[in-house]
Order: sequence, then structure tokens, then C-alpha cells
Amino acid sequence: MRHTAFVFDAYGTLFDVHAAVRRHADAVGPDAQLLSEIWRAKQLEYSWVRTLMGDFADFWQLTEQALDFAYAKVPSADGAQRQNLLDAYWKLDCYPEVPAVLKGLKEDGARLAILSNGSRAMLDAAVKSAGLDLVLDDVFSVDDIKRFKTDPGVYDMVTTAWRLYPDAVSFQSSNRWDIAGATRFGFRTVWINRSNQPDEYLDQPPAIILPSLESLRQVG
Ligand code: LAC
Repeated sequence: MRHTAFVFDAYGTLFDVHAAVRRHADAVGPDAQLLSEIWRAKQLEYSWVRTLMGDFADFWQLTEQALDFAYAKVPSADGAQRQNLLDAYWKLDCYPEVPAVLKGLKEDGARLAILSNGSRAMLDAAVKSAGLDLVLDDVFSVDDIKRFKTDPGVYDMVTTAWRLYPDAVSFQSSNRWDIAGATRFGFRTVWINRSNQPDEYLDQPPAIILPSLESLRQVG
């Protein structure tokens, strides 16, 4: 089946979440990478825990709280960079292949969207800063339902808005846990395994595994 609806996770899949710390790595100090990894891990943990307890705070608040925790864990990192790191999150680099891949799919006649935990404001800023606003048909933010991935209601935003069956949607994410949720929902899933991680959630496997988005157009 050739898909005509392609939906992308944002952070880690289109946008490089570690670009914020990398941009200020010299100023942050030798533990910059550790700080970045704890920041991302806590940001995600907070999203799962909030949804499990039936609560919601937008992804920007979780991002700030996660950075504060990361700084507390890594006291060697320069706290004076806090604001610079947060500001950088609003204009993260996209991965190098992203603009051409999205443009190619668009030329093939596909419908394209982001489906993300990101707040509406964060996503709008990142999309504009990466120049992706012209190729995307929609940006779905969990702000609209106030539950984070992997709540099935998140994936359902796409099928409801686009009036499609789940298996008509090809969903791309570099986050294996997000692929598990999307597979269970019924999307055709493509795991973009950018950092060569071992497989997990074996009962909810991706249909396809790619090292980057580069050849997505070929697999259709
Ligand atoms: C997102 C997170 C999972 O963009 O990276 O939804």
C-alpha cells in the first residue's frame, strides 16, 4: 500500500533536541551532554506521569522543570546558561534531510503533519524557524486534548481530523515508545532509529525501521 498521509513526531524525529545544549556546549562545560540527556529523559517522564495521574501541564512547563532537575543533578553545568538553553529550544535545528524529504513527499501529493507532545506555541516557533511551515498541512498539538502520548486519544486526533482509518496513516517517530503507542493505535509505523538503539516493546513492532528519514519516500 502506498501511503498518502504522513505524520511525524516532532522532537527527536524532525528536530534535534540535543541541538539546544550543543549550541551552548562550551559555556555549559564538560558535562553538557549528560545535562542534555537528563533534561530530555525527565521531560518525557514528566509527560507520562502527568497523563497517568490524570493531570496536564503543557510541554513547555515540563521542559523548564526538567531542565531545573537536570541542573540539580549536574551541578558542574553552568547554571548561567539556563535561559540560553531554554531559548534555543524554540529554534532547534531540524535534521539535515528533513526539508528535502518533506518537500519530496509533498510533490508526490501526500498530506503531511506533525503530531507532538509539544505545546502549540513551541511547535509553531520550531516549525517556522526550520522553514517547514510551507510544506506541512497540519500541526497537531496535545494541547488540544491535554493528554500526552501514548494516550490513544493523541493518535486519534489525526484520524478524526483527516477522516482516515488508522492504517491509512504512516507515522514516523525516532522514539521507540511512541512507535509502540502508534502501532497499538493502528497506524502504519516507521521507526527512525537515528541513534542505533536496541529494539524494545517487541509486541508493538514498527512496520519499517530506517536509520533516518532519507529513504521514506522510497518505502512509501
Ligand atoms: C513529541 C515528543 C515525544 O514531539 O518528542 O511528541
